[in-house]
Amino acid sequence: MSKHDFIQAAFGQPHERTPIWVMRQAGRYLPAYRAVRDTVSFSELCRSPKLMAEVTGQPIDIFGFDAAILFSDILLPLEPMGVTVTYAEGGPTVLPPVRRPEDALALRAYNPGDEMRHVLEGVREIKKRLNDVVPLIGFCGSPFTLLTYLVEGGGSSSFTEIKKFIYNYPREAAALLDKLADISGQYLKRQIEAGVDAVQLFDTWGGILSPQAYRQFSLPYIKTVFDMCKTRDIPRILYLNFTRPYLTALAELDCEVVSVDWRTDLAEATQILDGKAIQGNLDPQVLFGPAELVRTETRRILQVMEKKDGFIFNLGHGILPKTPVENVQVLVETVHAEARPK
Ligand code: CP3
Repeated sequence: MSKHDFIQAAFGQPHERTPIWVMRQAGRYLPAYRAVRDTVSFSELCRSPKLMAEVTGQPIDIFGFDAAILFSDILLPLEPMGVTVTYAEGGPTVLPPVRRPEDALALRAYNPGDEMRHVLEGVREIKKRLNDVVPLIGFCGSPFTLLTYLVEGGGSSSFTEIKKFIYNYPREAAALLDKLADISGQYLKRQIEAGVDAVQLFDTWGGILSPQAYRQFSLPYIKTVFDMCKTRDIPRILYLNFTRPYLTALAELDCEVVSVDWRTDLAEATQILDGKAIQGNLDPQVLFGPAELVRTETRRILQVMEKKDGFIFNLGHGILPKTPVENVQVLVETVHAEARPK
């Protein structure tokens, strides 16, 4: 059995203290991260194992989070397929966008063990830096979320292009989703070989689909990825934004943890996802409120989940760049101060 509360909670085993980490914990709200970013671009940072290890470790040293997450980005594995990913102030772009069946066919499958070597080297460097004080979470994007970026050519608010693509070309969409699932599954397997202690799949945009369409275009490919990286001791976490309408579909998925957003009722999620651990779900914008609100909201969540061994404290989505650092400290202290019932 692992000595880490985070791994024990992920497997629903009894543990001493409720573990906490937050999505995007290594990022721009941290002055120490901004200091590194003043010297290199985001893309350079993602290609330097030494700097990846440095920024991955920063939030652990500063706040005492119970898990670290690999510093990288879900869009990096798209590049070897034949697109160019650029990170700018307004968000990332992925070019050229996939709009027609022939665009999809032009994207190539590849071996992540070769093409993503720099990330795997980063994992090994981070593991040395962490020295097993906390476990390391590896990750990738869900096939549907990656497809959304490929088709939209970046972020979107209306998601018109991705809907047009999947509804007009369902067969071609399925073929590309298969390709993305295969790459992602192999990529996570390689991350596990390189030393990560848990894996998380980010299905950031699955929530734009109807529950029926979710079962067609997102869930089966997540299943493929999770089947490919199933092992005895590496928990598999799915994060889905706008989680609530999909809970019954997710209950069928073979994985250890579901990470839910703040719109989702934790008691209801616990009931529907019987047998799985739950991660979440503080509204990231509560951290912009007064410290007392951070305390009361945090305690409310802890109280709802008090009896459940399988609970990992997190936000309902990534921490926002302008978040006051003091409130992150308050959040972690509040979670750690609360004793688990014997
Ligand atoms: O602490 C961590 O979680 C580190 C690693 C991490 C990053 N991105 C670093 C990053 C992880 C796990 C991600 C996941 C990611 N990337 C997702 C899924 C999670 C989610 O938020 O839903 C998505 C959709 C992306 C794509 C992406 N990358 C966007 C939309 C952006 C721009 C928006 C933003 O927050 O800037 C990025 C850039 C990015 N990825 C940054 C970081 C720290 C900011 C880059 C910078 O330093 O300028």
